[in-house]
Amino acid sequence: MAETPKEPAQAAEASKGIRKGRFEAGMDPLFAAFNSSVSFDKRLYAEDIAGSIAHASMLAAQGIIPAEDAAAIIRGLKDVRGDIESGKLAFSEELEDVHINVETALKEKIGAPAGRLHTARSRNDQVALDLRLYLVNRSRLVFEDLVTLIANIVDKAEGEIDVIMPGYTHLQRAQPVRFSHHFLAYGQMFKRDLERFQGALPRIAVSPLGSAALAGSTFPVDRRMAAQELGLAHVCANSMDAVSDRDFVVEFIFNAALTMTHLSRLAEELIIWSSTEFGFCTLPDAFCSGSSIMPQKKNPDACELVRGKTGRVYGDLMGILTTLKSLPLAYNKDLQEDKEPLFDALDTVRACLGIMGGLVPGIALNHERLAEAAADPSLAATDLADQLTREGTPFREAHERIGAMVRQGGTGEGLPSPEAMVEARNHEGGTARAGVLQQIAALREWLATAMPS
Ligand code: ARG
Repeated sequence: MAETPKEPAQAAEASKGIRKGRFEAGMDPLFAAFNSSVSFDKRLYAEDIAGSIAHASMLAAQGIIPAEDAAAIIRGLKDVRGDIESGKLAFSEELEDVHINVETALKEKIGAPAGRLHTARSRNDQVALDLRLYLVNRSRLVFEDLVTLIANIVDKAEGEIDVIMPGYTHLQRAQPVRFSHHFLAYGQMFKRDLERFQGALPRIAVSPLGSAALAGSTFPVDRRMAAQELGLAHVCANSMDAVSDRDFVVEFIFNAALTMTHLSRLAEELIIWSSTEFGFCTLPDAFCSGSSIMPQKKNPDACELVRGKTGRVYGDLMGILTTLKSLPLAYNKDLQEDKEPLFDALDTVRACLGIMGGLVPGIALNHERLAEAAADPSLAATDLADQLTREGTPFREAHERIGAMVRQGGTGEGLPSPEAMVEARNHEGGTARAGVLQQIAALREWLATAMPS
């Protein structure tokens, strides 16, 4: 979409639109540019138009505006949408925000009736509605990204079900585990992330329309009708809350931030595992970069960027929380600062989910190296202590005896095999083959119903 470059003098000129009446002097050009949000809120155009269509239908149905005018408004708004989508209509910085841009374009199309659209409405309930509708629509895309990533993790786990590797605590070798079990831990994290994004939806899909600036409207609005037309099951219960609540933005960004936390942990493990020191896997060429000076290098840039971008999403979360802190009711222009962190968090988490989803199938495990590491006799220490315990030694004493044996360089080599050790943990959530396969089956079953229809 083309965007008119910021031109302060022009912006000041155009700002006269909604200033007619109250103001004598024009805007300072610096302030006009400072005040303008269209460079980022233009993303909301489709939702802005959908909201206006629902509002106009409601106004006509309630006899608040003439039916012919509503029909002209709705037709005009659809034309404006067409013009935006075909690139015929460029947003103008001078018209402050997406709302004024759309309304101005409507006026150019249909003339005077356009002036009736804003009856019983303020940009305060309008922008809150737009943002909610936008998030309802975009949440679905995040669900899809997560479903794809989880499905790829499950496939990888199933394909490598017999691979055993050391499990770690404190990044020290601890006990043998199946690679699939380790990998599926991420499947579980992303499953919870998806559930969190979905769980937030009922608090997003609520209509603020009818709240107007803050106190509601003197016109006989039918708030439920407008909400229903937009597919929103509920209306905000308090008009002041409706225009000042951005909890749903915070929640969404938090959900993105926690998803990024999980992505960063996976990214970090892949970076470690693909190092020469570990040598547990090779990352796909398609997601790695070379060095401009060292010919031998293959760098895990995709994973590093995912790890790094986690910081910016945390920044988005701190940003929105700080913007909201101590804000008095109801709407304040500070709230215009809700959009950039939200859009950034949304774009970033989607990009990172896409990258990780694309990378996972191409991870090539180094089976020999993993088997060698899993055969480290020290990994058997717990199982040896368990064995002594089964033979009657109290566990604390068994722990001490095996510890002393390890200190003296003994290993208990050849006693339990890595295979036997992972199979011995044969309970729900454990490392045995049957349990891991059960985990895979359960995740697959959940995935099949994870997308709302
Ligand atoms: N661009 C504004 C925002 O994003 C729209 C609402 C403006 N409302 C107002 N009273 N100035 O918050």
